[in-house]
Amino acid sequence: MSRARSIAAVVALASSSRALAVPLQDALDPAGPQAQHLVALWDLMLAMSTVVFVLLVGAAWIAVLRRTRREIETPDLAHSEQEHRRLTRIVSAAVIVSALGLAALVIATIATDRALAGLPLQDALHIELTGHQWWWEASYDNADPSKVFTTANEIHIPVGRPVIFSLKADDVIHSLWVPNLHGKKDLIPGRVATHTIRADRPGIYRGQCAEFCGYQHAWMGLLVVADPPDQYAKWEAHQRETVSTPSDPTAAAGQHVFESGTCAMCHAVQGTTANGRHGPDLTHVASRMTLAAVTLDNTPANLAAWIEDPARIKPGTNMPGNNLPPADMGALLAYLATLK
Ligand code: CUA
Repeated sequence: MSRARSIAAVVALASSSRALAVPLQDALDPAGPQAQHLVALWDLMLAMSTVVFVLLVGAAWIAVLRRTRREIETPDLAHSEQEHRRLTRIVSAAVIVSALGLAALVIATIATDRALAGLPLQDALHIELTGHQWWWEASYDNADPSKVFTTANEIHIPVGRPVIFSLKADDVIHSLWVPNLHGKKDLIPGRVATHTIRADRPGIYRGQCAEFCGYQHAWMGLLVVADPPDQYAKWEAHQRETVSTPSDPTAAAGQHVFESGTCAMCHAVQGTTANGRHGPDLTHVASRMTLAAVTLDNTPANLAAWIEDPARIKPGTNMPGNNLPPADMGALLAYLATLK
């Protein structure tokens, strides 16, 4: 791709609405037991708050209208013993009803909290999830170290099987939130937090960093893809595969650009000499739906624009720009496209 064309791609991108081909998150569309508990609590709170709101506004209107009329008709009534007792009864009843309502919400909240913590964790999948400015690193644990693999910004999980996340942060505080599956949990530097989820129906669930973590906090997305178990097993086996040198000469030249240039200082491609740990592992980058932490659809034009000038797409990003000769850029894109 020529430099002029890749600049045109950047401009087209900057002027587009960045409408991604992946679904948006929806906290009211639960796909797992924990999101279901949270939606039930939300529904209860919304219903009770609506009733209280309607009653209060209604009572306020009645009070305003009646007081004006009664003050004109019976000016001494407000000071009578009888009226005083009547108001005391009304206020006492209102206080008791309010306290009972709040107590009911406290009990419902505690019950929800216990239900969230009570997810059965037999046969759980363990994923170590690390927050970086501004992307997610996911390492799939295994008792056999040779079976551990790492991916970024898009994680797959098997439907019906619980997942235990160990949450870490590399730089500042981030927060994991996949609204269709669970509530939020912070990722704090120097600490390991645990978060559990289970997806009960297949789908793509968008997650979002929910703690302000700097300039590109809003573009720190994560995709959780819940696959049927057999499909997940295939994905997992594929992720463990390393890559071999491409047979296509252009792509092979691209691998040389990758390994001999700056790419390999920050990115790893398993099975090659590229072993950088600062940026996302790119072993299977071509199989991911998005780029730059759910900022761009994973298309060749977007990838070229990103490699050339990442700061134009995500100002503040740690990835530097790459002013490559057009032939090298073309070869690099051909190589990255082989990393399925
Ligand atoms: Cu990471 Cu906000």
